[in-house]
Amino acid sequence: MGKHRKIKAHLSKPVSSITGVLLLDAAAAHMVLREIEASNNHYIIGPKRGHILVRIASEFHPQRILEIGTNVGYSTILMGKELPKRARITTIEINPEFAKQAKENIARASLEPTIEVLVGDALKIIPTLKDEFDFVFIDGVKSQYYAYLQALEPNLFRGSMIVADNVSKSEAQMQDYLKHVRESGLYTSRFIMVENDGVELSIRR
Ligand SMILES: C[S@@+](CC[C@H](N)C(=O)[O-])C[C@H]1O[C@@H](n2cnc3c(N)ncnc32)[C@H](O)[C@@H]1O
Repeated sequence: MGKHRKIKAHLSKPVSSITGVLLLDAAAAHMVLREIEASNNHYIIGPKRGHILVRIASEFHPQRILEIGTNVGYSTILMGKELPKRARITTIEINPEFAKQAKENIARASLEPTIEVLVGDALKIIPTLKDEFDFVFIDGVKSQYYAYLQALEPNLFRGSMIVADNVSKSEAQMQDYLKHVRESGLYTSRFIMVENDGVELSIRR
């Protein structure tokens, strides 16, 4: 095959199969994450707890992820960057301005094909979701964690994993959630302290 035909064949391949482009995509995601970290956004999980979230998610090899509380897409991009092939993330954000920024950040990180941002109240959107989720990251309003979980339970199955953020700092606002995952018998649950806050890891029995 001549040089030009080779290049043409290369360019006609799906983007994800071109190693060089994959490297560029990883660099793009990296750049967007560093930008968000530098923006002094206090909502985001941040690099340390984010690293733990990604480690848990990648060891679990999830195929279908749900996130509640997108903000500008930081944790979404962190997870999306490490996803196994064919895995998909649905993320829900109530604030249209944050959702718009998240969509832009996700596009700049070249993760659009695997991430869907839904704009609205998670408590109204979750009951409309048809899919079952094997990995859920809960990071919306702290006092609503239990309500999110109740709405979500029909979409979980044995082995589904739920990671809830800010379980140490906001413990008082999520007593009902923690009691449910720790004492209902429906989950195997444990707390992990990272930096100055913690996450609760619960697996549906
Ligand atoms: C702590 S921030 C999420 C941070 C993000 N997960 C990260 O680590 O990059 C919580 C977000 O949840 C959103 N939120 C609050 N209530 C919500 C609801 N009922 N449904 C969906 N999103 C909600 C807020 O607007 C806010 O952007």
